[in-house]
Amino acid sequence: MDLSDRSKCLEKVYSARNNEELAEGYDGWAKDYDRDVLSFGYKIPAIMTCLIGRYIPPDTGTMLDAGAGTGILGETLALMGYKDLVGIDMSQGMLEVAQKKDVHKKLLKMTLGEELDFLDNSFASTVSMGVFTQGHAPPESFDELIRITKPDGYIIFSVRADVYLEQGFKEKQDALEKEGKWRLIEKTEPFRALPLEDPEILNRVFAYRVS
Ligand SMILES: C[S@@+](CC[C@H](N)C(=O)[O-])C[C@H]1O[C@@H](n2cnc3c(N)ncnc32)[C@H](O)[C@@H]1O
Repeated sequence: MDLSDRSKCLEKVYSARNNEELAEGYDGWAKDYDRDVLSFGYKIPAIMTCLIGRYIPPDTGTMLDAGAGTGILGETLALMGYKDLVGIDMSQGMLEVAQKKDVHKKLLKMTLGEELDFLDNSFASTVSMGVFTQGHAPPESFDELIRITKPDGYIIFSVRADVYLEQGFKEKQDALEKEGKWRLIEKTEPFRALPLEDPEILNRVFAYRVS
């Protein structure tokens, strides 16, 4: 697969019209996903890992990896001592690649934006990388992530910067803070997420604490 084919997989998932097309796009990309995004200079893992390490000690209980994909973040976290990881994702193909890495205790097929099959306060913390972006999981996903994360637990996630401003994320994140559901602890400046492929795409990482 040459670089233009690699870019086509990225374009396909960005242009999906619904969850079915999105999951199909990722199912078809799964086995080449790591090679492709790493060749694009995927920058979010470094920023996420740094913020997670800043706020969440490795032994604080079960961490949810929401939209775990092929487990790129899980792999790094496991290496840094975060062994109590549960992953969810809507793409069976991505979960199957993650399964081979054997870094999550459990990997489950679930869709953010819908009701999640977990009890209230199931997780000590929640992380989500690369999932709140064009045509992917909606801002309403945060209601369920807050419900299943324990009070005082951190929720740390990336959001594409244009999607944050234009597709209801800023409003939703601010509204949840006003309602006393979570408090903002830190947010990064926008940075290039895929600098070698699409330098125009900027992301931010947010760290919230559930109230
Ligand atoms: C860009 S990939 C990121 C995967 C991984 N977190 C990473 O950073 O490499 C986006 C992932 O989110 C998943 N995804 C997108 N929308 C979702 C939703 N509504 N619910 C669950 N997973 C979703 C996709 O299947 C895909 O695995």
